[in-house]
Amino acid sequence: MQFKLEHRDPASKARAGEMITDHGSIRTPIFMPVGTVASVKGVHQKELREEIDPDIILGNTYHLYLRPGMDILRKAGGLHAFMGWDRNLLTDSGGYQVYSLSGNRKIREEGVKFKSHIDGSAHMFTPEYVMEIQRIIGADIIMAFDECTPYPCDYQYAQRSMHLTHRWLDRCMVHLETLPFPYGYSQTFFPIVQGSTFKDLRKQSAEYIAGVGAEGNAIGGLSVGEPAEEMYAMTEVVCDILPEDKPRYLMGVGTPINLLENIALGIDMFDCVMPTRNGRNGMLFTAHGTINIKNKKWESDFSPIDADGPTFVDREYTKAYLRHLFVANEYLGKQIATIHNLGFYLWLVREARSHILAGDFASWKNRMVKQMDNRL
Ligand code: GUN
Repeated sequence: MQFKLEHRDPASKARAGEMITDHGSIRTPIFMPVGTVASVKGVHQKELREEIDPDIILGNTYHLYLRPGMDILRKAGGLHAFMGWDRNLLTDSGGYQVYSLSGNRKIREEGVKFKSHIDGSAHMFTPEYVMEIQRIIGADIIMAFDECTPYPCDYQYAQRSMHLTHRWLDRCMVHLETLPFPYGYSQTFFPIVQGSTFKDLRKQSAEYIAGVGAEGNAIGGLSVGEPAEEMYAMTEVVCDILPEDKPRYLMGVGTPINLLENIALGIDMFDCVMPTRNGRNGMLFTAHGTINIKNKKWESDFSPIDADGPTFVDREYTKAYLRHLFVANEYLGKQIATIHNLGFYLWLVREARSHILAGDFASWKNRMVKQMDNRL
């Protein structure tokens, strides 16, 4: 993978860049729609490509390993071929889902024993095994196996967990060297900074991660319930240490405001279930604030969902129609809301990129943050 830093904002730490992999270009800052089980819920690949147009989407090792499983993914020729997606893919390592979804997990030096959330069957993830699985899934960017600490987390636990994540990282890297690329294109490996909400641990972890010299770096363990200001403080500490010339990925973040504030601190990549999950619950994100489309106030509002929105659903359907679909519990309501939200998130990061390139990102960001804070 190549990464070119194209421009830095003069009034913040925001950057615009481009990553190039064997599946094409990823213009940063970027938001990666989440396609956990080889599907961005409710959106066809054609709509995703043509309307939302992300350079990269995300899949989850934990889910794909459990279903459809490794044999099917290997026979399909990897996840790109299986799901009909020829642009970039990133897989998370399971270092988050194994803690949040599976029952009875036991964390040991060797790895994590867990029970499937689907059928209760017992499994074990080790750093080595997770690297093998991610080779078979075949994403362009693959993640280290880590432990994502909960919030709040006591200092002793956060420190022990961070060291375990570092030891697991070393094992991931040693093992990856022995594993060929199965599908004729290469994969890029990102390690993950941990350290909970403790500045000294975050510094120590960022130094360790920077020291392994990976092609890109991630920050985990945030957006787990801590106040936004604490998240920003951690991002700032870590971005000061991670190398400038490598992409920085903030995992599992966040609201539109979180995206802009973290871009201003030097983050290049994001993923989050919020636009898809909240969309399915009737929450719409717009440049002027959030909308609960189930609210009675939209019952006879025949204005477009989002007159300035980038996708066809924004202009072709009315708020009253979308509210009706939600009240009647029609699938189409969830689909329209998801396309709207993802279209908005991708528009937001593209706008951020163009303002960074134009040199006025910081003032645009401050205006947008105020605007987006409204409830409509
Ligand atoms: N997604 C959101 N946070 C995390 C994290 O800390 N680790 C991993 N692997 N994935 C995440």
